[in-house]
Amino acid sequence: MAAGLPEHVQSYASWTPLRAAASPPEGTAQAHRPLRAAYGAAPDGGKLLPLKPGTALVLEEKLDAEGFISRLSTMTRTESGWTYAAFSRRSSSEPFAADASSAECAGCHAKAEPSSAFSGLE
Ligand code: HEC
Repeated sequence: MAAGLPEHVQSYASWTPLRAAASPPEGTAQAHRPLRAAYGAAPDGGKLLPLKPGTALVLEEKLDAEGFISRLSTMTRTESGWTYAAFSRRSSSEPFAADASSAECAGCHAKAEPSSAFSGLE
C-alpha cells in the first residue's frame, strides 16, 4: 500500500466499508475533500460496536472522480476516546506525509453522537 501511512491503516482498503453520513454538518466540505469513502476495522476483526481500543476508522479522500487518493483521515480508538490524524500527498507517486495536527477534528466529530463517528458503524 501507499508509503507514508501508519502501519495500522495500511490495509484499510480491505476493511468494512461504512455507510456515508446522512446529513454532514456545515464545514465538512472544507474539512474533508469532496469525494470520500469511509472504512473501519476492529482490532479482533469483528464488529465495530461496541467500540474497543485499537479500532480504526479511515476516510479516503479525493478532489474529483478522476483524481488519486490525495488524503487519508484517520481516527484510532484509545481507552478514553479517539486520536485523530490526517495524511496527504500532492501526487499519486509521492508518499503520504502527516498533516499538521488539527484541534478542529475532535471539535466537529464531537457533534456525531454518541460515537463521534458520522458514518454508520453497525
Ligand atoms: C466540520 C466538521 C468536520 C471536521 C473539522 C472534520 N471532520 Fe472528519 N468527518 C466529518 C463528516 C461529516 C464525516 C462523514 C463524511 C461522509 O459521510 O462523507 C467525517 C468522516 C471522517 C472519518 C470517517 C469516520 C466518520 O466519522 O464518518 C474520519 C476517520 C475522519 N472524518 C477524520 C477526521 C480528521 C482526522 C479530521 C481533522 C484533520 C476531521 N475528520 C475533521 C466532519 C468533520
